[in-house]
Amino acid sequence: MERYLRGVLMCLLGLGLMTEAFEVEIKDGSNACIYASMNVNFTIQYETNSNKSSNATLVVPDKVTTDGSTCGGKEVAPLLVVNFESNHSLRLNFTSDGTVYRVDMIVFTYNTNDSLHFQDAKTKGLFSTFKSVDIAIPVNATYVCLNEAVVVTENVVQVYQNVSLLAFSQDKPFTKEFHCSADDSTTQAPVTPNVTTPNTPSTTPTPTTKPMDKPTIGNYTVLNGTETCLLASMGLQLNATLLVDGKTVWTPLNIDPKNTTSSGSCGNDSALLRLNDSGTTIVEFLFLVKNKNFYLQEVNVTLVNTSGMSVRTNSNLSLWEASLGSSYLCHKEQTITVSDDLYVNTFDVRVQPFGVKNATYATAEDCISDQNFTVPIVVGAALGALIVLVMVAYFIGRKNRRSAGYQNF
Ligand SMILES: *[C@@H]1O[C@H](CO)[C@@H](O)[C@H](O)[C@H]1NC(C)=O
Ligand SMILES: *[C@@H]1O[C@H](CO)[C@@H](O)[C@H](O)[C@H]1NC(C)=O
Ligand SMILES: *[C@@H]1O[C@H](CO)[C@@H](O)[C@H](O)[C@H]1NC(C)=O
Ligand SMILES: *[C@@H]1O[C@H](CO)[C@@H](O)[C@H](O)[C@H]1NC(C)=O
Ligand SMILES: *[C@@H]1O[C@H](CO)[C@@H](O)[C@H](O)[C@H]1NC(C)=O
Ligand SMILES: *[C@@H]1O[C@H](CO)[C@@H](O)[C@H](O)[C@H]1NC(C)=O
Ligand SMILES: *[C@@H]1O[C@H](CO)[C@@H](O)[C@H](O)[C@H]1NC(C)=O
Ligand SMILES: *[C@@H]1O[C@H](CO)[C@@H](O)[C@H](O)[C@H]1NC(C)=O
Ligand SMILES: *[C@@H]1O[C@H](CO)[C@@H](O)[C@H](O)[C@H]1NC(C)=O
Ligand SMILES: *[C@@H]1O[C@H](CO)[C@@H](O)[C@H](O)[C@H]1NC(C)=O
Repeated sequence: MERYLRGVLMCLLGLGLMTEAFEVEIKDGSNACIYASMNVNFTIQYETNSNKSSNATLVVPDKVTTDGSTCGGKEVAPLLVVNFESNHSLRLNFTSDGTVYRVDMIVFTYNTNDSLHFQDAKTKGLFSTFKSVDIAIPVNATYVCLNEAVVVTENVVQVYQNVSLLAFSQDKPFTKEFHCSADDSTTQAPVTPNVTTPNTPSTTPTPTTKPMDKPTIGNYTVLNGTETCLLASMGLQLNATLLVDGKTVWTPLNIDPKNTTSSGSCGNDSALLRLNDSGTTIVEFLFLVKNKNFYLQEVNVTLVNTSGMSVRTNSNLSLWEASLGSSYLCHKEQTITVSDDLYVNTFDVRVQPFGVKNATYATAEDCISDQNFTVPIVVGAALGALIVLVMVAYFIGRKNRRSAGYQNF
């Protein structure tokens, strides 16, 4: 939807048409899975019996039915069907990857047998128009677009306004809102309280220049069924230029373990750790196995704000390597380059993505950066000195014993 928003204002239709709104909730038993409320109208160009072009305008009324809607299941996508008046319908189906969900397709079906709206239509019957939509909404957030969104397909102009949409959630809507970009770029104050105060010209936040505190160390696990299959503990700090709107200023952002949930998956040769901080910052770590060692191959960072999201990925890493059956440990601060505009600073890392037994870390292999070369030198020197000392002591002892013997006997 978002894509068609900017600059397109269908004022010609008049706001009077947009007063009707429907509100529906789809349930699976007692659990709601889809919630939607919006104002929608359609302008459909059709041919009359006299071979002239005519326009019909349909406004989705307050009273609609949702027959055909489903919460979906293993193989079936959740589907919202809104039926109105004489067999017209609007269908939206959804996909989700656990982090974000999307409206996959908008299908609008109109019935030209509806002689009230399609007077003198040459061909009578059902017509459908499809539009695939690519807008990612964080899970557990309600998509809100107060401004007009216009979807244009062949012969049909669809105008959406005051949209609230929530899928894949059993929570009541409005817990967290995800606004379309049109809502942010207008003077209309977003409904979310902590963004801008109404009627105050929004000032761009001044980037912090004071050094940031080290991030808190978080302990994270991934379960395979009920068993812990991945252990990780670390402090994470993002350093990005894309955190502050329109400013190329490096801004650090600490991941707060208190607001962070971990999930992921464990396989024989790959393991994924996904950390989700408040649904606004998602960091993913992909570990692979190579030659009896594991290593960090990919880091994904997804940043979500009220106006959009961005994903940065580096899938060509070779970090945090340790042998299978052990864990990787690194106290030193490290910086992972995810992209030109985003780094991840890590602190006090300990991870074990494979072979976790009894939810406890196996022996640690310390990162190379921790063992500088003075360690073996110092140890070697100490050992050498010890040997010399022992030998000296031995000979002195023997000499003393011998002289003592001479004295006593
Ligand atoms: C019907 O609507 C289309 C698109 O909005 C417009 O280009 C066309 O001029 C309209 N036709 C009539 C007869 O109003
Ligand atoms: C959504 O519906 C469209 C049209 O009915 C279909 O082509 C598409 O495969 C559906 N998407 C999913 C994820 O089921
Ligand atoms: C979404 O909400 C449900 C129920 O409150 C919760 O179990 C789930 O972990 C949440 N998912 C995310 C990604 O926040
Ligand atoms: C938008 O919809 C909400 C309910 O979803 C309603 O309370 C509000 O009055 C509507 N706003 C407009 C401008 O229609
Ligand atoms: C963030 O990255 C910039 C550019 O590399 C660097 O100058 C700055 O010191 C970094 N800040 C932190 C907190 O890592
Ligand atoms: C929101 O995120 C988008 C995409 O990452 C970014 O372009 C925009 O500057 C961000 N807006 C704010 C207000 O931070
Ligand atoms: C993973 O390894 C176990 C034990 O070696 C084996 O039983 C299982 O089939 C493997 N799974 C896959 C998907 O290769
Ligand atoms: C990282 O993000 C990209 C793009 O969204 C996606 O294709 C990839 O599967 C993600 N990687 C992981 C490990 O989730
Ligand atoms: C990945 O890294 C290797 C070695 O660092 C390099 O040879 C290769 O070109 C890189 N691949 C991509 C796609 O960046
Ligand atoms: C597993 O860990 C618990 C608590 O750390 C300990 O009491 C138990 O003996 C351990 N079991 C095995 C088989 O190591």
